[in-house]
Amino acid sequence: MANVSIRKYKTSDYETARFLFAEGTKEHLPAACMYTLTTPRFYFITFVAFTSVFMGTGSYVLALTSLVALLAAGWYGLYSEFHGLASRFLRKDMLDIEKSYMMSENACFWVAEIDGKVVGTVGAQPSTDADDELLLQRISVARDYRQLRIGTKLCQTVIDFARQRGFNAVCLETANIQRAATNLYERVGFKKSRVEILPSLVHQYTSFTVAYYRYNIKS
Ligand SMILES: CC(C)(COP(=O)(O)OP(=O)(O)OC[C@H]1O[C@@H](n2cnc3c(N)ncnc32)[C@H](O)[C@@H]1OP(=O)(O)O)[C@@H](O)C(=O)NCCC(=O)NCCS
Repeated sequence: MANVSIRKYKTSDYETARFLFAEGTKEHLPAACMYTLTTPRFYFITFVAFTSVFMGTGSYVLALTSLVALLAAGWYGLYSEFHGLASRFLRKDMLDIEKSYMMSENACFWVAEIDGKVVGTVGAQPSTDADDELLLQRISVARDYRQLRIGTKLCQTVIDFARQRGFNAVCLETANIQRAATNLYERVGFKKSRVEILPSLVHQYTSFTVAYYRYNIKS
């Protein structure tokens, strides 16, 4: 196992922390595209688009062009979704990490460090839904340092913090396309509490599901 240390965030980590978080979010685009290409809804929509244009115009070229346009629109929708998500959080809690996480007793942000290099991040804030729940968020590990149990250590750090602060549970959300994250959470001991499809057009069209996980500290 690599010589990893987990420590609290410092101002000098700002750019790296934001970069790691944004890259970790945007990298799900290829998996999202692959997932969408395997859904029955995708085949249904492309079939309907192709046959309607072909029957309306009698032209294979136009029918194929409409398919390409549909694929391009789908790719752009997914691109906007993941890049938009990263930008939204970069403008939200990740804009001022110090203020969002380091100024309250019940919130914190940590980085994972190997030989002085920051290679992972995780944040924790109290849930707005329930007073006794802590939210685990913004977990990301640099690509070259994955599968070295750094993600596990970051999760454990949040669980320990929640226990020390008297929270009853650590909660988080993730998407079904985030295989590594889902496996990580289940391996650490989080249990799936519910699954839903968000109302946005992209989620409805692609059938992406969001899973909510919970780790009970006091049972
Ligand atoms: C998810 C992530 C944080 C995991 O970090 P990590 O340091 O590689 O995780 P660990 O080494 O602690 O792995 C723990 C377990 O996670 C699972 N896992 C990790 N990487 C995996 C992968 N590529 N595929 C499948 N399962 C994986 C495994 O079950 C692993 O346990 P095992 O090695 O005993 O099988 C990392 O892949 C990442 O940063 N991804 C991009 C950002 C992201 O998805 N964040 C989550 C947002 S909800």
